[in-house]
Amino acid sequence: MSPRLALAVMLGMAALGCSDVEIPHVPEGVPVTYADHLEPLVLARCLSCHTAEEPEAKLVLEVGTGHGEMVGRASTQVPEVLIVAPGDVESSYLWRKLIHDVEIGRGMPRTVVGSIKLPDEEIELYRRWIEDGALP
Ligand code: HEC
Repeated sequence: MSPRLALAVMLGMAALGCSDVEIPHVPEGVPVTYADHLEPLVLARCLSCHTAEEPEAKLVLEVGTGHGEMVGRASTQVPEVLIVAPGDVESSYLWRKLIHDVEIGRGMPRTVVGSIKLPDEEIELYRRWIEDGALP
């Protein structure tokens, strides 16, 4: 890798806050669960702004709280929409935030350099999780 490319990759990773978290590979047919597959990613990329002390948009994504905070719970921004509607990706507000299809606020995650999109395979994991029933 050229030094310039290495620097670009490092800056990209710093912007994502993802120096040490790996996107898990979940084999086809294995349901994606929050605790096993998504929570480590959420803690690395989302917790900094969604802490219990000062949760942005009143959303607390601390260890053990993220599933209950999002699944079946109304969005504070668009109260007629659930943050996560199990089995229904298109109706889930979280999904709109992740693909940056939002009327209120920005796409997630936000960073110091503005809103960014997660890597495709990570967004895909959220999609599978919701489709598989948004298991705990
Ligand atoms: C740098 C700070 C920051 C980070 C990191 C961040 N968020 Fe947010 N989040 C916010 C802010 C600020 C809002 C409210 C304004 C907006 O929507 O832009 C918000 C709002 C939300 C909402 C809307 C909640 C509701 O009830 O309507 C969701 C869902 C959300 N964030 C999920 C996430 C997820 C998932 C991640 C990680 C992938 C993440 N956020 C990372 C700052 C952040």
